[in-house]
Amino acid sequence: MYHQKVGESLKQLIDEVCELQVCGNFDGILSLLNNMAANHNEIIMALPDFDSEEVLLYSDNNLAVYYISTPPKMLYPPHEHGMIAISALFKGTETHVFYDRNGDRLVERSRVTFKAPAVVNLDINTVHAICTYDNVPNSGIHFYLGDLENQERSMWDVSGENQRQYVHQDYLNSARPLN
Ligand SMILES: [Fe+2]
Repeated sequence: MYHQKVGESLKQLIDEVCELQVCGNFDGILSLLNNMAANHNEIIMALPDFDSEEVLLYSDNNLAVYYISTPPKMLYPPHEHGMIAISALFKGTETHVFYDRNGDRLVERSRVTFKAPAVVNLDINTVHAICTYDNVPNSGIHFYLGDLENQERSMWDVSGENQRQYVHQDYLNSARPLN
């Protein structure tokens, strides 16, 4: 179901991703999203005005779609998704901090910055944190290929400690300034 009223071009995109997801056409989804990130004007116009940085646009048992605008110089806490996640970035840069697991704590492995237009494809085992070093918020649409709201999955403090079940408000409260 749609949680926000979105314009026709964005609705068409989400509906197409739904169909490709149901028939298991992962390459088709990536190709569609690469095309969207590179030709994003219509999609931007199809987005409602938001006053928050994360908005759930659509969800069902197979797919969750969020509009995400990451504020500058804040590091959000590390987390896993428990499913494939794809970030289609159409404005600014998005830095992903990737972690390795060491028991129940995390060790930072690498930081990779992607510049729009970019599609970042994260496998089911990925543990990451996101931030932007830009001076203004970035913008993108994130697609999660599963029932994200009901998924058992972990988050940690930005220190990589204190593993616990992901709760969205806890995630937002646990963000810290980038150093
Ligand atoms: Fe994530």
